[in-house]
Amino acid sequence: MTKPGSQKIAIIGADGQLGSDLVPALKGHEVVPLFWPAFDIVKADDAAGVLRRIRPDVVINTAAFHRVDECEDRADLAFAVNAFAVRDLARTCRALGAVLIHFSTDFVFDGEKGFPYLEEDCPGPLSVYAASKLAGEHFVRAYADRAFVIRTCGLFGRAGCLEKGRNFVETMLFLQASGRKEIRVVCDQIVTPTPTEELAARVAALIGTEAYGLYHMTSEGSCSWFEFARAIFELSCGDPSIVIPVDTAAYGAKARRPAYSVLENGRMRKIGLAPFSLWRESLAAYLKDKAGEKILKPR
Ligand SMILES: NC(=O)c1ccc[n+]([C@@H]2O[C@H](COP(=O)([O-])OP(=O)(O)OC[C@H]3O[C@@H](n4cnc5c(N)ncnc54)[C@H](OP(=O)(O)O)[C@@H]3O)[C@@H](O)[C@H]2O)c1
Repeated sequence: MTKPGSQKIAIIGADGQLGSDLVPALKGHEVVPLFWPAFDIVKADDAAGVLRRIRPDVVINTAAFHRVDECEDRADLAFAVNAFAVRDLARTCRALGAVLIHFSTDFVFDGEKGFPYLEEDCPGPLSVYAASKLAGEHFVRAYADRAFVIRTCGLFGRAGCLEKGRNFVETMLFLQASGRKEIRVVCDQIVTPTPTEELAARVAALIGTEAYGLYHMTSEGSCSWFEFARAIFELSCGDPSIVIPVDTAAYGAKARRPAYSVLENGRMRKIGLAPFSLWRESLAAYLKDKAGEKILKPR
């Protein structure tokens, strides 16, 4: 039995980076965690069958195929996970009368604007990944009658990004610990690193409201990936000079990325949700937490 005021919430990808912080953030609710491969959104009929049995009030979808460069060669898989499976999920949620919460990306923009993007700004995807995520957004709008679509950016969380192996913070620390003398990081893509813990808290605050629609949710402030990498070493007492700036052309990634994809949290502010911290403050808190964890771990 669900307690009065609490909702039954199915979390798809509950062991992922964001999913792992959503589970504790929703502790007042009845949470049903769902894990790949037992629950695979691409297998639409099976997924719908499981959700029919659970009968959730809310379905949160954190699943994505988001190895951006790999998506260029695997467009079928990118669209299967990020678009068509989202379409099927949206249809299922509508049939069950469930609210759908779905995540999208700053990469839907082309980066030409040069100042923060609002929810109303026109997207211009530059890659297969970005196009597939934008298609997912459109499918949610087309098929789910009660849904939140949340665009975010540069996630870092304690669980690390499962899809990509590690999040950016952990990758930097790992490369340093494995003896790298220098780490090349792009200096001409401007983003906003965002902690999953703060994002999960805002998702929890949205549940129960009827303020459906599209939201931008990122930390305050912005930086290049190079500046982010330097901050990781500055704040963890490492040597920031290990980080070498390179431009996008020299770095030579397969997929195109926006040069500027800072999001303005316009709608979130309008409905009165608490603002995010500055990215550097939440990075400091994340690193402090990690250091404490290391000390507490039994040897
Ligand atoms: N990470 C970022 O920097 C970033 C930036 C902007 C937007 N976003 C968006 O934010 C969302 C969450 O990202 P995240 O970093 O938390 O990702 P993540 O750590 O990779 O978590 C995704 C979760 O979904 C599961 N999953 C993958 N494919 C699935 C499928 N077909 N069916 C069911 N579950 C599946 C994964 O399981 P396995 O790992 O076992 O496959 C994992 O548990 C995604 O929509 C992503 O596009 C992320």
